[in-house]
Amino acid sequence: MANEFIEVRTEGGKVGVVTLNRPKQLNALNNGLMDELGAALKAFDADPAIGCMVVTGSEKAFAAGADIGAMASYGFADVYKNDYITRNWETIRSIRKPVIAAVSGFALGGGCELAMMCDFIIAAENAKFGQPEIKLGIIPGAGGTQRLPRAVGKSKAMDMALTGRMMDATEAERAGLVSRVVPLDKLMEETLAAALMICDYSQIAVMAAKEAVNKSFEGTLADGIMFERRMFHAMFATTDQKEGMDAFVNKRKAQFKHQ
Ligand code: CAA
Repeated sequence: MANEFIEVRTEGGKVGVVTLNRPKQLNALNNGLMDELGAALKAFDADPAIGCMVVTGSEKAFAAGADIGAMASYGFADVYKNDYITRNWETIRSIRKPVIAAVSGFALGGGCELAMMCDFIIAAENAKFGQPEIKLGIIPGAGGTQRLPRAVGKSKAMDMALTGRMMDATEAERAGLVSRVVPLDKLMEETLAAALMICDYSQIAVMAAKEAVNKSFEGTLADGIMFERRMFHAMFATTDQKEGMDAFVNKRKAQFKHQ
């Protein structure tokens, strides 16, 4: 079925790329867009040829937040009964292969939250991050109050959530919100290079690494370490571990079979 709010393509037959495409609304996120994004990511996750995904927007906006026009008339009964956000905005959390956010321009409110739901963020120099919901008389509703402090610490997260100010790419990198900042015209090139690099590794090891890092945000340190240790042990049951180590020992490039 044709998508109305996103564009979907693959790169090198290995990377699934989703481009948010509501330019007139600066990629404001509505239920239709989030349904399409969730379906596209799930399809890529289920496709054995795909090793990594990228979510991106336009030069001007990754996404300027939840669609304020659509939300303006909602009452408590609408959002509670329809389980607004939880029902279809968090599909990305169930994706097991890596998802990289390639952010240029505004990533505000739900846009910043969507970027933070991805596994890591590569930002263009013009990227601007923020949780401006306070200006609308609401608070972040797609995980911003939880993921932002984990990324940048309490003081900066409070500053962002309480003043609604934006953070530029340099500050975002310094604070740990983004993994790298690149020139705008190199954003997709750098992101796809990272994605293709990930695709060439063992898919099993990649998925296990993602799962283990995500564990660090839940539960205790001891539980997280134990989870990591058991996953690490489990890697020794894979053909890819034999291949990776044999390739190193014999000074050749590993050819992973994802088994
Ligand atoms: N929802 C709906 N439409 C939006 C939008 C949003 N979040 N953000 C921008 N737009 C629309 C504008 O209404 C405008 O439409 P028209 O041309 O029809 O008037 C168009 O996009 C261009 O926007 P601007 O003219 O405002 O562009 P600008 O360059 O002057 O400013 C901006 C850009 C600073 C991003 C500004 O648009 C802005 O502040 N947007 C709102 C950001 C925001 O508050 N986001 C949080 C939403 S709440 C949320 O996300 C809740 C949650 O946690 C889930």
